[in-house]
Amino acid sequence: MKAVFLTDTNQPLIIKEVEMPEPKAHQVLIKLAYSALNHRDVWIQKGKYAGPKSGLILGSDGLGTVTKVGERVEGNWLGKKVIINPSHDWGDDPAAFGNDFKILGNPEPGTFSEYIAVDEKYVHLKPAHLTDEEAAALPLAGITTYRALFTRAAVKRGEKVLVTGIGAGTALLALQYAIAAGAQVYVTSSSSEKIDRAKALGAVAGYNYKEEDWFHTAKNETGGFDVIVDSASGKGFGSLIEAARPGGRIVFFGGTDGVIGNIVPNKIFWRNLSILGTTMGTLQDFKDMLEYTEKHHIKPILDKVYPHLAHAQDAVDYMHEGKQFGKIVLTNV
Ligand SMILES: NC(=O)c1ccc[n+]([C@@H]2O[C@H](COP(=O)([O-])OP(=O)(O)OC[C@H]3O[C@@H](n4cnc5c(N)ncnc54)[C@H](OP(=O)(O)O)[C@@H]3O)[C@@H](O)[C@H]2O)c1
Repeated sequence: MKAVFLTDTNQPLIIKEVEMPEPKAHQVLIKLAYSALNHRDVWIQKGKYAGPKSGLILGSDGLGTVTKVGERVEGNWLGKKVIINPSHDWGDDPAAFGNDFKILGNPEPGTFSEYIAVDEKYVHLKPAHLTDEEAAALPLAGITTYRALFTRAAVKRGEKVLVTGIGAGTALLALQYAIAAGAQVYVTSSSSEKIDRAKALGAVAGYNYKEEDWFHTAKNETGGFDVIVDSASGKGFGSLIEAARPGGRIVFFGGTDGVIGNIVPNKIFWRNLSILGTTMGTLQDFKDMLEYTEKHHIKPILDKVYPHLAHAQDAVDYMHEGKQFGKIVLTNV
């Protein structure tokens, strides 16, 4: 079968003929129709991600049809259209993952491939309200933002929530999930066009994080945010601490803009802020996310669908540029 292969860091992704996986006990074999990118695919190619740096089939998100099942598979999966939970071997403690934790697509072979074999406990029926492309784009951003907003930050109806960098695939789902929970949602972006698009999706207002004092304006207009969802970190994290209301929660899961610098400690402890780290989620988080997505008919926003796996490098380059508004999808066949 054909798969997109990273031979070494900073080398272009290539299509390679690789051995077809055979489903082991408890596994199903899925013929993938679509896969989706996540920023980790960019980090991995650049050698900026923990774990193996070469000899990898990338991709954490995908949708396909089950074509074969291994021994002791219990579900009636054959012929079913499914998506894959990419958060594997979390461990026993719902508060944090254990030593065996991994994310599909590094080190395990990922979804930029014609076929994939995965344990049936990570396989779920495609949500009926989504197109195949939308369903392929849901899993990783879905589980991450669901856990961030609800398991970690416990967002409640009526709270003011700020989601930063709204162009991100994760940020847009966070916006949609928080609106569905009855929160008043605000956004930041480097682009006024993206802010307008977020408002069209239900955001109350937006602020350009490139303007140094954006957080003063935001705080004056809103009184401060109850919850802030961030994936950029970097120098701008200090502005988020300023923008939070006393007692607020800042939940974050990414470091797109690098290390957090120059935080004045009393801005956090004096104002009783909670800073919450989060990554991916448990099997229960994934199930809850799917149920919530279906109940509220939430659809991941797609920026672009590439017509073939051969465009994987173009897609990674496009994600690196940061011009997208939502998820970037690859057609696998
Ligand atoms: N820990 C986890 O479980 C987990 C899971 C998913 C993602 N992540 C991390 O979360 C981040 C986002 O992932 P993604 O796949 O959603 O990425 P993505 O779609 O590539 O996000 C790109 C967006 O990031 C925003 N951005 C860039 N620099 C920023 C800055 N200085 N301040 C605020 N926003 C900024 C931009 O928004 P604008 O264009 O609107 O300015 C850009 O559109 C990545 O760092 C990723 O590794 C972590």
